[in-house]
Amino acid sequence: MTASDKAFTGSIPQIYDQLLVPLIFTPYAQDLAARITRHQPREVLETAAGTGVVTRALHAQLPPEARITATDLNEPMLMQARTHLADADRIRFQQADALALPFADASFDVLTCQFGVMFFPDRIKGYAEARRVLRPGGRFVFNVWDRIEDNEFAHVVHETLQQIFPDNPPQFFTRAPHGYFDPVKIRADLSEAGFSDIIIETLPHRSRAASAQEPAIAYCQGTPMRGEIESRGAPDLATVTQAAADALRQRFGSGPVVGQIQALVISAR
Ligand SMILES: C[S@@+](CC[C@H](N)C(=O)[O-])C[C@H]1O[C@@H](n2cnc3c(N)ncnc32)[C@H](O)[C@@H]1O
Repeated sequence: MTASDKAFTGSIPQIYDQLLVPLIFTPYAQDLAARITRHQPREVLETAAGTGVVTRALHAQLPPEARITATDLNEPMLMQARTHLADADRIRFQQADALALPFADASFDVLTCQFGVMFFPDRIKGYAEARRVLRPGGRFVFNVWDRIEDNEFAHVVHETLQQIFPDNPPQFFTRAPHGYFDPVKIRADLSEAGFSDIIIETLPHRSRAASAQEPAIAYCQGTPMRGEIESRGAPDLATVTQAAADALRQRFGSGPVVGQIQALVISAR
């Protein structure tokens, strides 16, 4: 993990929200919200909420008396989230590091985190903090991406970047979003932080876009990979994005594209 891996800032939040969220995050947000709703929580905490795709799914699925606190390390991501949910009184947005939550012990019935724990510099500390703010018997419901080979668009973009920068290949995808998927390790980390009743499921989906250009822009410009590409100087971001689009087109066709995505969904008490 490097400092730039958590830099969801600048123009990233908007591109992330417009292209990456519909591409890969929406079906998993619907899934997490459905799982959480079954626990009938009164108070839900979301960490690493990003631009609020899970927050919106929770708002749509939870009964009106349930309250949602949506937090993220990066205020620019929350600013983008607020644009979708400006009138939702029961949602509180608050900047917070998931490793040092500004909430009292035993404050929430459910804590959720969609595709966020991979970015935690110390996951056991993050899990212990989740446990601290959960009420006795409370649930931690979260997900992580499976290995990059099971996430086809990301894999093609990653391989393309390895070829463009052979001397200094960008490793953001395999270091951060696709760097924490071993169920044995996840189970051990949760147990060490005090969680039990751990259930881990594999959940595949199909990812769709109107053309290869969309996943290329989404992955190269709407994630911290953008900073890794820009820091190398040449070729520039537009040229690299075009090369990724060409590789995706070659593999998935010149019209609408469809690829496999896969995640692990985890629930612990
Ligand atoms: C891949 S995004 C997921 C965002 C959102 N949950 C979604 O499904 O679209 C990862 C998020 O983790 C946030 N993040 C990274 N490190 C964090 C930390 N220590 N505490 C809280 N959020 C963090 C980033 O700002 C980013 O919004």
